[in-house]
Amino acid sequence: MAITDSTAQSLVLRHANLCTPTATSHVHIHDASVAIVEGRIAWLGEERQLPARYRELPEHDCDGRLLTPGLIDCHTHLVFAGSRAQEFSQLLHGAEYADIAASGGGIMTTVNATRAASEEDLLESALRRVDDMLACGVTSLEIKSGYGLTLEHELKLLRVIQQIRAQRPVRIRATLLALHKLPPEFEDADSYVTYVCDELLPAVIKADLADAVDAFCDQIAFSRDQVERLFVAARAAGLPLKLHAEQLSNQRGSELAVAYQALSVDHLEYLEADGIAALAASDTVAVMLPCAFYTLRETRLPPVTRLLAQGVPVAVASDCNPGTAPMTSLLLAMNMACTLFRMTPLQALAGTTLHAAQALGIGAETGSIEVGKSADLACWDLSRPEELAYLVGVNRLHRRYYAGQHEHLLHKQH
Ligand code: NIG
Ligand code: FE
Repeated sequence: MAITDSTAQSLVLRHANLCTPTATSHVHIHDASVAIVEGRIAWLGEERQLPARYRELPEHDCDGRLLTPGLIDCHTHLVFAGSRAQEFSQLLHGAEYADIAASGGGIMTTVNATRAASEEDLLESALRRVDDMLACGVTSLEIKSGYGLTLEHELKLLRVIQQIRAQRPVRIRATLLALHKLPPEFEDADSYVTYVCDELLPAVIKADLADAVDAFCDQIAFSRDQVERLFVAARAAGLPLKLHAEQLSNQRGSELAVAYQALSVDHLEYLEADGIAALAASDTVAVMLPCAFYTLRETRLPPVTRLLAQGVPVAVASDCNPGTAPMTSLLLAMNMACTLFRMTPLQALAGTTLHAAQALGIGAETGSIEVGKSADLACWDLSRPEELAYLVGVNRLHRRYYAGQHEHLLHKQH
């Protein structure tokens, strides 16, 4: 794994093949320099136009390598215990995800293992996944709770997320996902929603452990009305909203999320015309999770082409979780977004940088190579930006910069 061997935060990157998404398209500069001052991008442009004042800074010669914004994984559930390999076999032999859930497995399998695990063990296994992600050039990462489902255990997961933030050089957004699954302590979903709104959420807010709130809106999870009760409570507390929507059926969760100015709606295989129109008239990001589609062997495609045609910002994330996306490679998710969903490689890059930043509400800080933003960058042993999504399961990261701090990679995978 990567070891931080320098914390110099003012430096100049030279001879980079720079590619960054912009709001409308891409900027591609074949021989570029980027000046970083105190962790922020101070200047970027053609190498030959680098101002004299930046030529004094310590320098990294990118030697023609591809330089992109650091990648952003805007949807993960990476703090959990146990494995669902057994259920994977069941899925392969024809069982449905919803049937496994109905018989007490699925998310509950992971909730049981996670409740039984210590904070230390959860941290250790989560850090392994985070380290995989950093090794793929990730500089910002969203992590959801949702495998605790009681105040005690949701707080435990959120504290683990806090510890990850303290121990690794990566920007972390923590999302409370208490409405992930009805836990066995409650007889009906409405009383659990009341508990979440009246007790769990206020305690999490008091402990200042969540940056946003999410829910799973589906027949096997929570209804639109139940999600709306959570949205009302979270919005009153000023917390941004996200939603697992239209993954297994069309509950019109996206329309609800848009009405509450949610940051993002995620999955969307069953999104239809009204939902697309609502998104097109909003700032809400559509997040594609192709690994969940792949693992569940879903055949219904999210309407990506129509979303893109209507100008909806489309992000791509790993969904790292033990049930539907046991993976840690955002690069592989980019490849899947192209092969399975027919996004272009440059759309996939915008989806794991600029639009992913918007899906986390951190677009002013990161997500593109722009003057004033944090110097979150990834340098690749590649010659074209399209190669990031074209290669299947191949990681050519050369160096990662987080707020200008850089790492040398000790092991090279080539
Ligand atoms: O994003 N859809 C709900 N939540 C996760 C899966 C969680 C699990 O199966 O453990 C998802 O696919
Ligand atoms: Fe998810």
